[in-house]
Amino acid sequence: MRPRGASADAWSDLSRQAERLRGTPTPSLFEADPARVERMSLDAAGLHLDFSKQAVDAAALDALWALARSAKVAAHLRQQFAGDPVNFTENRAALHLALRAPKDAVNPPGGPAIASDVHEVLDRIEAFVDRVRSGAWVGHTGDAITDVVNIGIGGSDLGPRMVCEALAESVRGPRPHFVSNVDATELVRVLSGLRPQTTLFVVTSKSFGTVETLANARTARAWLVEALGDQAAVARHFVAVSTAAERVSAFGIDTDNMFGFWSWVGGRYSLWSAVGLSIALALGMDRFRALLGGAHAMDEHVRVAPMESNAAAWMAMVGIWNSNALALPSQVIVPYAQALARVPAYLQQLEMESNGKSVCSDGEPTEHQTVPALWGDVGTNGQHAFFQMLHQGPQRLPVDFILPVRPSHDNDAQHRMLVANCLAQSEALMQGKSAGQVRVELGEQGLSGQALEDAVPHRVFSGSRPSTTILLPSVNAASLGALLALYEHKVYIQSVIWGINAFDQWGVELGKQLASVIERQLADGLSDGSAGSHDASTAHLMHRIQAAWQSD
Ligand code: F6P
Repeated sequence: MRPRGASADAWSDLSRQAERLRGTPTPSLFEADPARVERMSLDAAGLHLDFSKQAVDAAALDALWALARSAKVAAHLRQQFAGDPVNFTENRAALHLALRAPKDAVNPPGGPAIASDVHEVLDRIEAFVDRVRSGAWVGHTGDAITDVVNIGIGGSDLGPRMVCEALAESVRGPRPHFVSNVDATELVRVLSGLRPQTTLFVVTSKSFGTVETLANARTARAWLVEALGDQAAVARHFVAVSTAAERVSAFGIDTDNMFGFWSWVGGRYSLWSAVGLSIALALGMDRFRALLGGAHAMDEHVRVAPMESNAAAWMAMVGIWNSNALALPSQVIVPYAQALARVPAYLQQLEMESNGKSVCSDGEPTEHQTVPALWGDVGTNGQHAFFQMLHQGPQRLPVDFILPVRPSHDNDAQHRMLVANCLAQSEALMQGKSAGQVRVELGEQGLSGQALEDAVPHRVFSGSRPSTTILLPSVNAASLGALLALYEHKVYIQSVIWGINAFDQWGVELGKQLASVIERQLADGLSDGSAGSHDASTAHLMHRIQAAWQSD
């Protein structure tokens, strides 16, 4: 069953609710419903979520649940867990859920055969990780491995990079490094701090055909071979994570040193697979398993909790309310945790590569806005950058505040400041400050008359700016796993409401095709004929760049 999206009647009801609530200050919703916080907060897999600062009330929520029912969200979730081909343009399951189910799961997602494949690879990873971390796996010169460089991009980079940074305090094994960009600056900078004798490269690519990854891997291989003076060194310093054994072998990596996964793992959903190898190498297998365990706990919550108390359904439906009913154009993510600095970038791929679509499952254009642009940065840094716009810009932009209750250091005073800032921002966004309050404040500061009146409008905060607060007990492997799985489920539920496919990404292909043509033409030298195959702007830029190169 392909997602057909929510029904037209349910969308109309939702619009009516938005119209009814237009102009209603969010603080008044608290006065109207003393149990609002209780009704709009929930706990899931160790996380606490408070949606009460969203500009939605009980009747609007009812309309959202009706919308979800009309799109058959519950049935689609069951299909995903069962391993049905929910990626309908590629006729594949999306079974990343199976990657984090424990060995003894009674009904593992996708069935027991998939569970057994998953745990076989996990066991191989564990054995390899133990060898590297214990020093039993040595490099070509007999030295133990001190540094691991993951070479991959997109889903083969963002997840492991973000997790290793989030849990950096727990790194006891080799130091993790990440290289993704085809801009060699990144590789050059990483390699400049490393010794080839003690460096292990993990080339991570589902397809093993991604040009950026292969270019970086070739350069890294040349660096290693030149330094160690022996092509055979590659065998001890390169391992691969991929689904494409033939390409791995053609690159020169022994498939005995390849950790596989499967076509039913989408790139942006893959950190739970062997793609997490660098996480396991740096943090240890126990922590990697704890990450999987946290995600599985969220999967179980999402699988069994009824819609109205399902954390992922809340995340999804509140997002639909903001994007579709209120037409708010983007979603801001602000982790109040330096450790989670890369979470916004990770979620950009997860949400925008998944749901940045405008064609429904029947091939027709979508009638509704799909994923909003998603962006953000850590608090408190963001407060000194883009928060001005969040508080007083003409558009209301919903914010997800992500806050660990306990710090991963012992500076309690600074953690208290961090927490206070996070709570203060969401409070300020919702409560705002009226002209009356501003007048009183300015009067107290000694301002009066026209000077006071001139100052007032610039200091007013409209308020009613929506946010969700997600509390984590602390930034640890399990809570991080639960958080990421929460967003994954949100994304799928939203795709079902919009009637689109969350698991393909055809939109990345055209640019790749054109880049390979342009690269070849730049290498061969631009002729009138080759330039003529481009639009005038692109041809002009190619000529200009080539002229600069020729004058060097
Ligand atoms: O950007 C497109 C994409 O296919 C992503 O979906 C994927 O995560 C990334 O490229 C890397 O792909 P691969 O793991 O095959 O190298």
